[in-house]
Amino acid sequence: MEFDTISVIGLGYIGLPTAAVIASRRKKVIGVDINQHAVDTINQGEIHIVEPELDIVVHAAVKEGYLRATTSAEPADAFLIAVPTPFKAENGNEHTPDLTYIESASKAIAPVLKKGDLVILESTSPVGATEQMAAWLAGARPDLTFPQSHGEDSDIRVAHCPERVLPGHVVRELVENDRVIGGMTPKCSNAASSLYKLFVDGECITTTARTAEMAKLTENSFRDVNIAFANELSIVCDKLDINVWELIKLANRHPRVNILQPGPGVGGHCIAVDPWFIVSETPDEARLIRTAREVNDGKPEWVLGKVQQAVGEFLSSNPDKTAKEVTISCFGLAFKPDIDDLRESPALKIANAIAQQHASKVWAVEPNIEKLPASASSELVLVSMEEGKRSDIAVLLVDHRDFKGQEFTAHQGQIVVDTKGLWEPMVLTRLN
Ligand SMILES: NC(=O)c1ccc[n+]([C@@H]2O[C@H](COP(=O)([O-])OP(=O)(O)OC[C@H]3O[C@@H](n4cnc5c(N)ncnc54)[C@H](O)[C@@H]3O)[C@@H](O)[C@H]2O)c1
Repeated sequence: MEFDTISVIGLGYIGLPTAAVIASRRKKVIGVDINQHAVDTINQGEIHIVEPELDIVVHAAVKEGYLRATTSAEPADAFLIAVPTPFKAENGNEHTPDLTYIESASKAIAPVLKKGDLVILESTSPVGATEQMAAWLAGARPDLTFPQSHGEDSDIRVAHCPERVLPGHVVRELVENDRVIGGMTPKCSNAASSLYKLFVDGECITTTARTAEMAKLTENSFRDVNIAFANELSIVCDKLDINVWELIKLANRHPRVNILQPGPGVGGHCIAVDPWFIVSETPDEARLIRTAREVNDGKPEWVLGKVQQAVGEFLSSNPDKTAKEVTISCFGLAFKPDIDDLRESPALKIANAIAQQHASKVWAVEPNIEKLPASASSELVLVSMEEGKRSDIAVLLVDHRDFKGQEFTAHQGQIVVDTKGLWEPMVLTRLN
């Protein structure tokens, strides 16, 4: 199949790198986004998101005339949809997949579709979303035929191809990673596969649309369940007075055991979201997946309890001090190490909650940002590493590279609550 023009709908963390990488293969790419600021920025050869190397690729693609952004859909030979898929509260279910972005994107491209076109859904989606997208397209274009009614003879080919790139490494992983490509029919899979082969060096493996949807959800649920196991272990070990970090090291010496590391909870927009898409569709069956989500979502509350306990212990060993005089610093606010992304971060959630509960300002040490985001509590203050280390209670929330090997000059009764096992071998440790 020939693709002269490819359109990418949604120019965010996934869509923009995809559009730019395809354009770097000297294909004409039309990027579509409803965000005028994003469109204007891209058309100036610049980027509106933070991702290493992306600026160079976008700049070259725009300058050489292969990439152009617009707010309204234009005809193309293939359409890749990479719009958000959050969850919403509906009918008593707090975690119902929200497909409204996919619906709007489908309705936006439907008028420009022509016989022979390929439509690929890249957004992480609940099982059946690709079929739903095809139904929306068919509803808007009764003059064209689609795979759900005409199988291999359809005018339009439809497939799902989930994205599994790691933020911070997107430009490289887009090319190197294997792709799971699920067509609504084998011809749809083959058409999508020939599109990805334009820029993917990894293997393109074909399957059904439903299996491809489930594959992405399975990958992130697998991670979530395994992190929940480690998080649960840390709570059990704390109760039994066992060093969880040592325990995991010992258990991992078994040739067939590989336990992940515990932490303050699970954040980001993939692992903390995608398992709910499975639970939402199969609530009675996905019991382990649901419990894992609940264990991980409950961890920030547990850490908060540990901080309260530390404040109580500090006050009993320093009876001359009042609660207001106790200084607390939170080390790390990002949702994972060495990035500046604070969205859906359990560390920020915990720091905000501590700041809300504590009688005086709480210090935050986050070397990857220059100012606190709007979502931070007004009771949080960004301070330097050295200042943060002088606090009475030091709460380690993210294992940033910059925090490794930090030496503390422990002062009277200083307490470290280490949720990542970076400084001290225990979750709750007294430094003197
Ligand atoms: N960010 C990641 O690391 C990552 C990794 C794998 C999969 N995903 C999945 O990829 C999808 C996109 O995620 P993202 O991180 O790129 O989101 P994002 O929020 O960074 O970008 C989405 C873009 O889509 C635009 N948009 C919304 N509705 C639109 C419409 N109707 N028409 C055109 N544009 C529209 C928004 O303005 C935004 O620029 C989601 O399903 C996400 O779960 C993300």
